[in-house]
Amino acid sequence: MPRGGKRGGGEPKPGEPIPDLLPDHPTLETVREAASTCKACDLYKRGTQTVFGEGPRKAALMLVGEQPGDAEDLAGQPFVGPAGRLLDRGLEEAGIDRGLVYVTNVVKHFKWEPRGKRRIHAKPNAAEISACRPWLETEIALVKPRVLVCLGATAAQALLGKSFKVSRQRGEFVASTMAPFVTATVHPSSILRAQGEDARRAEMARFIADLKKVAVQLAGSRRSGGGSS
Ligand code: URA
Repeated sequence: MPRGGKRGGGEPKPGEPIPDLLPDHPTLETVREAASTCKACDLYKRGTQTVFGEGPRKAALMLVGEQPGDAEDLAGQPFVGPAGRLLDRGLEEAGIDRGLVYVTNVVKHFKWEPRGKRRIHAKPNAAEISACRPWLETEIALVKPRVLVCLGATAAQALLGKSFKVSRQRGEFVASTMAPFVTATVHPSSILRAQGEDARRAEMARFIADLKKVAVQLAGSRRSGGGSS
C-alpha cells in the first residue's frame, strides 16, 4: 500500500467511510495524509482543506475542540485563530506549554454559511460528527494521552455522551476508556462571545481554573512517570 494511502488504493469516493481510508499500520503522519483526501461527509466540498490534529506524538495532554474555524481552514492548523489565541493565553496562565499538547477537533473540516463576504461558523450535525469520528479515535489511540480535555459542548457531547452538560460538569474528571483522566471545559470562543468586559474576564478566570486542574493531573502523571507534557 502506498505510504498513507487507503487500503483499497485510489481516490476516495464521496461518502466512503473513513475505516476504508485508514492505513493498515497507522502513524500520525500516514493518518494525516489519508485524512487529507477524506470525503466521508459533504464538508470537504466547502472547506479549503482537512485540518488534522497537531502536536507531539506522545503528548500527555490532548485537547479536542469542535471544528476548525475560518483562520484554521486557511492555515490548515487547529486553533490558530482568535479562539486559539485565547486558548494559548489560558494554557500559559495555567502553566501548560502548548508545544507539548496535542490539539485537535471532533470534525476536521470547516462548516460555514456565507454572510455577505464572510464565512460564518455553522454547527456540525450528528451525521458529520459521526462520519469524522474514526479520525479522532485513531488520534487518541496513537497519542494515548494521560489527560483528555473536551473544549465546549460539541466535543463533550460527542465524546462523553449527550447527557454531559458542560455548564454543570465543567472541570469534573469523568471515567472513560479514552484516557486515564478525561474532563471538559468551555470552548474558548464562548469567552470571546461573553457580553461585556467583566463577563469576559470572569469567564476567562473560570477557564484558567479548569485548565489549572488539568495541570495538576499532568504534574501528578509526570511524578508517576507517565507522558511527556
Ligand atoms: N474552534 C475549534 O473548535 N477548533 C479550532 O481549531 C478553532 C476554533
